[in-house]
Amino acid sequence: MDEKGGTAVCPGSYDPVTLGHLDIIARAAHVFDRVVVGVVDHPVRKKKTVFTAEERVVFLESELEDLGNVQVKAFDTLLVDFARQNGAKAIVKGLRAISDFEYEFEMNQLNRKMAPDIESLYLFSAPEFTFLSSSGVKELATFGADLTGMVPPSVAVRLQEALGRPRTGKIT
Ligand code: PNS
Repeated sequence: MDEKGGTAVCPGSYDPVTLGHLDIIARAAHVFDRVVVGVVDHPVRKKKTVFTAEERVVFLESELEDLGNVQVKAFDTLLVDFARQNGAKAIVKGLRAISDFEYEFEMNQLNRKMAPDIESLYLFSAPEFTFLSSSGVKELATFGADLTGMVPPSVAVRLQEALGRPRTGKIT
C-alpha cells in the first residue's frame, strides 16, 4: 500500500494495554499517516481503573516507541471532540467477537450522530487475540496466573504488583 489515509484515533481505556490492543494500533499505523492513541481519563466513566491515565500512557508509549507515526495522549472529552482536535477523520477500534458487536454498534451510532464526518472503522482481532481483554487479564493477575503472550512483560510485572497475590491451590 503506497498511499495512506490521514490521521486516525485509536481510543480505549487500556487498563492495561494488551498485545491485542498493540496489534490493532500497529495495523492502523500501517494504513494511516498518523495514529493518535487516546487513553480515556474520565473518573465518572465506568469503574475505577487499576492504573492512572499517566501510567497507562507510559505503558503504551514504551511499547509503541518504534512506530514513528504513533502518539499517545490522555483525553477526558467526548471522543469525537478528541478526534477533531487531533485532525482525525477516523476512529479505529478492534472487534474480537460477536460479544463486542452490540456495544460497538451503539458507540458507532452515538459517535456518528454527533460527528457524521468522522468514520468509525473496525479491524477484526488477530485469531490469537480474540479471547484477550483487559478485564480478563486483570482477573488472571489477581490469581497469580502467567500473563505471557497476553500483555507486555513490563505490564505483567506491574499488574502482578498491583493485583497479584501468591498463587495457592495449585494442582501438582
Ligand atoms: O473500549 P472502551 O474503553 O470501552 O472505549 C472507550 C470509548 C471512548 C472508545 C467509547 O466509550 C466510546 O466510543 N465512547 C463514545 C462516547 C464518549 O465520547 N465518551 C467519553 C469518553 S471520555
